Amino acid sequence: MNSTFLKACRGEPVDYTPVWMMRQAGRYLPEYHRVRRNFTFLEMCKTPEAAAEVTIQPVDLIGVDAAILFSDILVVPEAMGAPLDFLEKQGPVFLAPVRDKAAVDKLIIPDPEDKLGYVMATIRLLRKELATKVPLIGFAGAPFTIATYLIEGGSSKNFFLTKKMMYTAPALYGRLLDKITASTILYLKAQAAAGAQALQLFDSWAGVLGPSDFREFAFPYARRILKALKESGTDAPLIYFANNGATLLTQSKDSGADVLGLDWRINLDDAARIVGPGIALQGNLDPCALLLPPDQLEQRVARVLEQGRAASGHIFNLGHGIVPETPPAQAKFMVEAVHRLSRRQ
Ligand code: CP3
Repeated sequence: MNSTFLKACRGEPVDYTPVWMMRQAGRYLPEYHRVRRNFTFLEMCKTPEAAAEVTIQPVDLIGVDAAILFSDILVVPEAMGAPLDFLEKQGPVFLAPVRDKAAVDKLIIPDPEDKLGYVMATIRLLRKELATKVPLIGFAGAPFTIATYLIEGGSSKNFFLTKKMMYTAPALYGRLLDKITASTILYLKAQAAAGAQALQLFDSWAGVLGPSDFREFAFPYARRILKALKESGTDAPLIYFANNGATLLTQSKDSGADVLGLDWRINLDDAARIVGPGIALQGNLDPCALLLPPDQLEQRVARVLEQGRAASGHIFNLGHGIVPETPPAQAKFMVEAVHRLSRRQ
């Protein structure tokens, strides 16, 4: 198996810099649309054969060094008892937003093998199918990010309702976050037991909080998950991605993660100076750079690789999810450029 990705996560020497892309299994690939035509998005997540097929597509078509499980961060709150739908154009919607004590009390802490068994089945299938290819990354959403979807009822611009609960009903907010945290610990432990070889925690909305609110209302829950996973004895590297989190790095460096994911708003060498040795960095090309002419794209790849040398391990990635409008040939060119430009003699 190509274990370059796992080695880089652990800060071990590698022959070349490994690369994968957030949202690499998705709508920029015509082959994804071909499978997706037959299902709704959630049906596809719950059909292990289909989820496994689209997970492997970018490995075969684009040449990435890791596969990421095809699923969604919002299957956890759905399993906790919050009905979820994905609407064309609008994205995820929680039909009964969680805004009061009765709603928080109704949420359960699901047994992952029972309520999320389809994810574990997908992981088991993938490990068989990926055996000689690349490692499999499992993932979950971080509690703050999950809470924003539950409280707002979907995506949001200013997160008013989330911040309102944080500021005016902190005990209720804490109960909600505790439940999400407990559910996520069980879920990620189950993913590791089923065969996930690395685990990424997505804190997609962390960047909407100022540093002191992050310290009080988001970071402790993410850290609790990462510490619990480490204490469980799993050898899967842990990755924490706080999107738009450059100003939170002085905190995130103490998350307990082996790897910190970074968006493009900070240079990797500056980030490496803040986090210090012993933590690998993952990132951080602006996804829109994939629309540049190849020579300019290659220059940007070279710059990210150069800055990444300052870190104790670098996994090349985009700074956020690949944009659906991206031509697949450009993604393939980027992956080849990362491999070619980083290869040690
Ligand atoms: O990265 C991968 O390829 C693995 C699969 C994956 C998906 N979602 C598939 C998906 C992962 C890791 C996620 C995580 C996720 N989901 C996050 C965190 C990462 C990030 O982007 O910050 C968040 C916030 C979500 C919630 C979510 N799911 C939203 C807001 C949307 C709608 C917006 C959009 O991009 O359409 C989704 C839907 C979704 N999740 C799609 C895919 C491939 C599109 C579904 C489709 O119509 O086919």
